[in-house]
Amino acid sequence: MGQERLDKLLASTGYWSRREVKELVRQGRVLADGTPVRRPEDKYDPDAVRLTVDGQEVDCAPFVYLMLHKPSGLLSATEDRRQRTVLDLLPEHLRRRGLFPVGRLDKDTEGLLLLTDDGPLGHALLSPKNHVDKVYFARVDGVLDRSDVEALAEGMALSDGLRCLPAGLEILEDGHSGLVTLREGKYHQVKRMLAARGKPVLYLKRLSMGPLRLDPALALGEWRPLTREEMDALRMER
Ligand code: URA
Repeated sequence: MGQERLDKLLASTGYWSRREVKELVRQGRVLADGTPVRRPEDKYDPDAVRLTVDGQEVDCAPFVYLMLHKPSGLLSATEDRRQRTVLDLLPEHLRRRGLFPVGRLDKDTEGLLLLTDDGPLGHALLSPKNHVDKVYFARVDGVLDRSDVEALAEGMALSDGLRCLPAGLEILEDGHSGLVTLREGKYHQVKRMLAARGKPVLYLKRLSMGPLRLDPALALGEWRPLTREEMDALRMER
């Protein structure tokens, strides 16, 4: 990345407005590589400079990538006038960055959700061309059997007109639950496919998306930044 104005870099973190950065600089509270910044318009290479405010290091990465363990009851949307969205789980400075969920989970679906402000990466992961596999744990009302595995593997044509790509189904030991692998993400797709098999979904959770696996250390509603390894793996999907 090239050089960027300091006020733009610091404001992009979401912690301060440009006007607030100006004031911080005037008060001598911003250091670049240990030296007080003189003017907010001075330029720095965000990959090379070490910026601190009041002695605290500031991460000026151009984009943010978060793994969220979505709980049931929240919308996978950036805003809604009446209902809470997954962004309500994040602190203010991250909410101000314009993060969006990469692909939607239904309000009552739990599990892995990637949030980012990197539009091109988000769109690449969602593009039907890229066929990023998503794995869901589904518990159904009924008992899953071989004929369900075969129907999903063939690619189901639903009575409401939805034509699905071939999908995977691995039946788990209890027979009431399974792992469904989708290569696409149509509205309510897992629920619609299994309902069409006469086995409505009672509980649904996304476990993975491409190379990203839901971190078992994240409780419902918790999130963390992606690791460098996760980022590298995601970029390979493009
Ligand atoms: N399929 C569904 O039916 N719901 C989801 O939330 C995701 C996939």
